[in-house]
Amino acid sequence: MVLLGDTFPNFTAETSTGKIKFHDWLGNSWGILFSHPNDFTPVCTTELARVVQLLPEFQRLGVKVIGLSCNSVASHLSWIEDIKSYAGVSMEKFPYPIIEDESRVLATSLGMLDPSEADKDGIPLAARAVFIIDPNMKMRLSILYPATTGRNFDEIIRVIESLQLTDAHLVATPADWKKGDDVMVQPSVPMEEAKKKYGNKLRIIDLPSGNPYLRMVPQPIETSSE
Ligand code: BEZ
Repeated sequence: MVLLGDTFPNFTAETSTGKIKFHDWLGNSWGILFSHPNDFTPVCTTELARVVQLLPEFQRLGVKVIGLSCNSVASHLSWIEDIKSYAGVSMEKFPYPIIEDESRVLATSLGMLDPSEADKDGIPLAARAVFIIDPNMKMRLSILYPATTGRNFDEIIRVIESLQLTDAHLVATPADWKKGDDVMVQPSVPMEEAKKKYGNKLRIIDLPSGNPYLRMVPQPIETSSE
């Protein structure tokens, strides 16, 4: 089981595009690893198709994507034709790899199994896990969805945008934040420093406690670190 902040395991796996060693495959990019219970299932097909459609967004953010499903590479290669058809694309080469994990060795070691979803032999399948891994190979987000709920990949892009912003600046993003919305000064930043840095752009929200901890500022635009 990998926890937030842990170095993501450097596993070796067979995929629809050949054998990979995870850290070599990721290189200096951000990464999203998302798992699926089974090939040729309806919700999974919509999810993989959505990721194909969102690839330009992932590329813009410097993110590589990789799927995992508890089936063989041969099964993945055949399923890919359905995914391309559903996504409405006709590319020769499918644009991201899908890991084979018939034995569930990887799904088990990454804590992805859903005991309420099993194959015909009663062996648990992978849940819909999403892991975001940063260029330092650290796990930055982990969400497990049940098999019956398809993921919202726009939300995953939103989290990547927040992580990249808050890695570069001492800010945090509030509930339902979207790129371009105001952000908050991190609690660790002393008030004098916040006033000096943001001047009249700093907006302190009045609260019954009288405690000035809710400090809004416009989203920093430049991407360099503070
Ligand atoms: C699906 O991908 O549609 C699915 C997979 C397992 C259980 C329920 C739905």
